[in-house]
Amino acid sequence: MSPQLIAPTIAVHASFLAAMDEFRADGAAAVPHSNLARELRTWGDRWVTAEGFAEYVELTGGVSSEERADGVVPKTTLWWVADGSYLGRVTFRHTLTESLLNYGGHLGYAVRPGARRRGHATAMLRAALPVAHHELGIDPVLVTCDDTNTGSRRVIEACGGIFEDQRGERLRYWFHQAAATAGQRP
Ligand SMILES: CC(C)(COP(=O)(O)OP(=O)(O)OC[C@H]1O[C@@H](n2cnc3c(N)ncnc32)[C@H](O)[C@@H]1OP(=O)(O)O)[C@@H](O)C(=O)NCCC(=O)NCCS
Repeated sequence: MSPQLIAPTIAVHASFLAAMDEFRADGAAAVPHSNLARELRTWGDRWVTAEGFAEYVELTGGVSSEERADGVVPKTTLWWVADGSYLGRVTFRHTLTESLLNYGGHLGYAVRPGARRRGHATAMLRAALPVAHHELGIDPVLVTCDDTNTGSRRVIEACGGIFEDQRGERLRYWFHQAAATAGQRP
């Protein structure tokens, strides 16, 4: 079965742990301002057990409803899963703080190192945009990447992101729902 974006689930525990080992070996735990890095550090010892993973899945699958004083905004996380195997994830930040508007954007995504360069990130972003537009009501959607992140830049451009500008190291692209709908017409 082709991969799908699904809510976090305990059903993929083994492949999730294998993916996290790959991320760690790839240096993901040392990336600054990264949710994945924070999770590798704080959950790495806990999600190995069934109970710890269930707790993590429950937290990750939930939506925090309020913007916090420290700038954390409501977010939704979905996992990219094929044939019961964890391949990657997308995080949707429902609103933009000034820092997210300038640098972070609405979406964050990652594909496990062992599954890269097979088109997964492109397919995952393509699947994520309608979720952002239709289910979460985010329009337009801002997606950003570092100017050195060739893979992510290609993903964004392949999905039709409209380049606005570069702020610091971040390239900023917008996706408009109307454009996506027009693109689907024959
Ligand atoms: C960036 C990332 C999501 C790409 O995932 P992926 O599944 O390998 O991407 P795809 O297979 O869809 O590749 C899309 C294009 O980028 C190219 N590409 C992917 N990784 C690349 C790399 N490291 N260097 C150069 N090109 C790369 C692919 O060849 C493909 O090119 P094409 O359009 O000519 O076919 C993945 O490397 C990753 O998770 N990185 C760490 C987290 C991250 O950077 N997330 C993005 C935050 S903005």
